[in-house]
Amino acid sequence: MDMIHVTADPAALQSRAAELIAAGRQEAAQPLLNAIRLLVPPSAEISLIGARLALDRGAVEDAMIELDSGIAAFPSHAGLRKCRADARQRMGDREGAARDAAEAVFLDPADPRAKAILGAAMLDLGCPAEAAACFAEAVAGSPEDIDYREALSAILEKAGDSESALLVLTDGIEICPASVAMRNAAILLCVRRRDFVQAARLAETARSLGIADACTFGLKGHALSSLGRHDDAAIAYREALKLGPEDPYVRHLVVSSNTMPDSGRAPDGYVRTVFDGYADRFESHLISLGYAIPGAIRTILKTHPKIASGLAAGPVLDLGCGTGLATLAISDLPVGPFTGVDLSPGMLAHARAKHLYAELREGDIIADLATHPRRWPLIVAADVLCYFGALEELLDLVRQRLEPYGWFVFSVEKILPDHDGVVPGNGSWALHRQGRYAHAEDYVYEAVCAAGFRVLRIDRPIIRQEAGAPVPGLLFAIERLCHDS
Ligand SMILES: C[S@@+](CC[C@H](N)C(=O)[O-])C[C@H]1O[C@@H](n2cnc3c(N)ncnc32)[C@H](O)[C@@H]1O
Repeated sequence: MDMIHVTADPAALQSRAAELIAAGRQEAAQPLLNAIRLLVPPSAEISLIGARLALDRGAVEDAMIELDSGIAAFPSHAGLRKCRADARQRMGDREGAARDAAEAVFLDPADPRAKAILGAAMLDLGCPAEAAACFAEAVAGSPEDIDYREALSAILEKAGDSESALLVLTDGIEICPASVAMRNAAILLCVRRRDFVQAARLAETARSLGIADACTFGLKGHALSSLGRHDDAAIAYREALKLGPEDPYVRHLVVSSNTMPDSGRAPDGYVRTVFDGYADRFESHLISLGYAIPGAIRTILKTHPKIASGLAAGPVLDLGCGTGLATLAISDLPVGPFTGVDLSPGMLAHARAKHLYAELREGDIIADLATHPRRWPLIVAADVLCYFGALEELLDLVRQRLEPYGWFVFSVEKILPDHDGVVPGNGSWALHRQGRYAHAEDYVYEAVCAAGFRVLRIDRPIIRQEAGAPVPGLLFAIERLCHDS
C-alpha cells in the first residue's frame, strides 16, 4: 500500500475526525478520513468513522457495507456492533438491531450506552419489560444521563407504574440538582398524571434553588391554574414570559391567565384578546396537538339520515367558527351554505380566507343567537362551549334557533378528578387553564334534556394533547324536540 508522508500522528487525526463528526462538521471529517485511510492500515475505529459519516449523510446501505466488513475483520469491537444496531434500526430491521445490540452488551458489559441501545431495540420489538430492565441497567451505569432516565421513566409510565416513573426522575434530580431538563421532565410527568400539587411543589423547589427557566415557570402556571389558583398561575406565566419573551405561546398563556372572574363564562374582551393574538398560529398549533373535534363532528354528521342518503341537510350555523376548521371538515358533505360566528376578528380573517362561508359575523354567540331570528336545520359548536361554564342559556337559545328535529352537535371538555381523587369545580363544571371550562357528563346530559332536546349520541373523543396528556372530551349530538315552540 502507498503511504503518504505527513508529520501528523494518525491516532490524533482519527480522534480529530471523530470530534468533527460529533460537532456536525461532516464535510470536514470526510477528507480527513480519506487521508487517514492512506496513512494507516484498516482498523475498527476507521470503519466506525466511515460508517458514522455514511449514516450522517443518510447513506444507510454504504454504512452497512462499511460495518459488515469492519465486523468481519474486528468481530469483538463493541462500537461497531452498536453502530450496526443503529443502522439496522434505521433500515427497519428490528431483530437484526436487537441482535447487534445484545452482542455489544455481551462484548462490553460495563457500557451503559450498549444497554440503552438494546433497551430501545427491545422496545421496538414490543418487549417493554425487557426494555425497562436494559434502561434500568443503563441508568445504574450512568446515573446522570437524562436520556436514559427519561426513556426508563416513559416505559414505566406507559406500563401504568407512574410512581416508579416519577421516582426515576426525582432520584435523577437528587443526583443532578442542576439539571433543568430532569426537573422539567418530573414536573411534566406530574402534570400528566394530574398530580398538580406535586407539580407545583417541584417547580417551586426549582425556583427556590435559583433555577430560572421559562419551561419550568410555564409548567408551574399550568399546574397552578389546574388547581384553580389562577392569580398564582398568572404570576408564574409572567415569569415564564420574562425568561422567554420571544415565545408566542408563552405570550398566549400570559394573556390567557389574566384573572378570570368565575362568572360562569369567559368574558368577551378576554376571548377576543386571546384568540386575536393566537389566530396566526392557531391551526398549526392545534394540528400539532392532534386536534380531533372537526373530524369527530364529520363522523357524526355522516350518520344524519338525510346526509347518509345523500340529501341536502344544510344550511349550517357554525358557532365559534374560529379559523373554520370544523366547517372545512364537513364542507364536502351536502350541508352548506355555512354561516360562521366568532368574537375574534383575527380568527375570522383566517376563516374568510378559506372562502367556505356564505356569511361570517363578528360577535358573541349568545348575543348572535338572541338577535338573529333565522332557524337552522343544523348548528355546530366545535371546542367553543369550553368558554362557558353554565350551558342553560346557550342551550335554550340554540333550541329556539333550530328547526323542529334540527340537530345541534357540540363538544365540551370532560371534567376529570385530580390525582388525589378530588373533582374540581362545583360538580357541574370547573374553570381550568386558559379560561376554559370542563364539564361533567351528567350535568350536560341533564341540561340538554331540560332545554328540550333528545340526545342522539354521545361520543367520547380525545380532543387534543396538552402537556403530553390527552384531553378527554364529550361530543354530543342532540335533536330539537318538535313539540315545543
Ligand atoms: C378553540 S377555538 C375553536 C374554533 C373552531 N370552532 C375550531 O374547531 O377550530 C374557540 C373559538 O371560539 C371563539 N369563542 C369563544 N367564546 C366565544 C363567544 N362567546 N362568542 C363567539 N365566539 C367565541 C373564539 O374566538 C375561538 O375562535
